Amino acid sequence: IPDRLDLGAHHSGQGVRPVTGTRPVTDLRGPATGAAVRRFTLTARPATVILASGRRVEAWTFNGTVPGPTIRARQGELVEVRLRNAMPGLGVTLHWHGYDVPAGEDGVAGVTQDAVRPGGEFVYRFLAEDPGSYWYHSHDLSDQAVRMGLYGMLVVDPAPAPGEGPAEASPEETAGEPAGASAEAPATSPGAVSDHTVSVHVLGGVPTTAVDDRPPAEGLALLRVSPGTPVRLRVTGTDNARRTLGLSGAPYRISAVDGRDLPGAREVTGARVRLAAGGRYDLTFTMPAAPVLLSVDDRADLGLLVTPGPGAAPPPAAGPLLDVTVYGSGGLPELGSFDREVTWVLDRGLAMLDGAPALAHTVNGEVWPDISFPVVREGDLVKITVANRGRDTHPMHPHGHHVLVLSRNGVPATAPVWTDTFDVGPGEVWEVAMRADNPGIWMSHCHDLSHAALGMTFHFAYE
Ligand code: C2O
Ligand code: CU
Repeated sequence: IPDRLDLGAHHSGQGVRPVTGTRPVTDLRGPATGAAVRRFTLTARPATVILASGRRVEAWTFNGTVPGPTIRARQGELVEVRLRNAMPGLGVTLHWHGYDVPAGEDGVAGVTQDAVRPGGEFVYRFLAEDPGSYWYHSHDLSDQAVRMGLYGMLVVDPAPAPGEGPAEASPEETAGEPAGASAEAPATSPGAVSDHTVSVHVLGGVPTTAVDDRPPAEGLALLRVSPGTPVRLRVTGTDNARRTLGLSGAPYRISAVDGRDLPGAREVTGARVRLAAGGRYDLTFTMPAAPVLLSVDDRADLGLLVTPGPGAAPPPAAGPLLDVTVYGSGGLPELGSFDREVTWVLDRGLAMLDGAPALAHTVNGEVWPDISFPVVREGDLVKITVANRGRDTHPMHPHGHHVLVLSRNGVPATAPVWTDTFDVGPGEVWEVAMRADNPGIWMSHCHDLSHAALGMTFHFAYE
């Protein structure tokens, strides 16, 4: 892996401008000056996590909780996160999954920084410019680290509308205050949006659902919301499983995919949708007078029950599976011609991994670190065709960029779906477009992190 980038002439919005010299990727950092508006300290350490049921799970945590403290900022704010590592014998980093930070803040051990050794620390700084739902996780031995609990949610709220006044700024947030034992949120007042992160994760062998920073519920979490309240659920699949989500008891919309609003998101009733491992959907609805069930994997006992009070849960949604690539409306933007075209053929095969033959997950017949990707130039429009010839689903995750879905299995997308984690099922072919607008060296991989560890990981670099 090269640790230095040779930046030649490159395009910017203003045309070609030369860049002289050689810049290490570690120099491509967020704003070095300026007071951070949101500051957090995350300490990675082992802890016993107590689920809402009382069950104890030995986990790897940020600040003693799983998920770690939610990092929440307003659009335009400078975020500063100090990572401290108190994990005996384990390197830790913070990767901002789906948040397209400058390369030097991307938190990939061995690529954009060295892993933070036990006792060490690293300070990440980035401007929160893109509102939406994201998450963060350690990116050293990430399959094991994420499975054990080293992750949390990241939310960027839109800047206040004119007249709304400045957002309240707290100079030092104490993230990770011990959460209460209750998994039930306080009732909201009608009018205000009831806005929550919902993460689904198998923790210590137990399927759990966590709402915001409350302790994970074993199976079904509970949320109290008054009738008439607009609700936004930011659902994230944080482990290696592809999830089926359904919402019953109210019509709903999939208002955002991977942190980007989905134009033309129409109201659906009883529909279900597949969520890629690592992907996010924002589901929105207005709270009715009776309970609403967010079911995971069609189960009545896994997910989230949103309730205005006592009352029976509806059965899980059982409607057709909705394909987000043909769900919105308004068509795709004019892109112009592609500067580069790349094909990733995903498959399984025998390959040498760490010096030993293994049944690996391959891209174009190769495994990490031999998978090649052409060097891109800033400003390039790159077309990526992904064809899955294997039997596994591969949630592909390019770092540092969102890609625009052009088509899935030959069917053009009906609205712009900007994704950072798209689920390529067996036999499927996806065409996506990527604008090279974030210089650096970027890891990309399958977000079934067990597949990533078995070869399906590569990098792409800017000239
Ligand atoms: Cu969420 Cu490279 O990962
Ligand atoms: Cu995979």
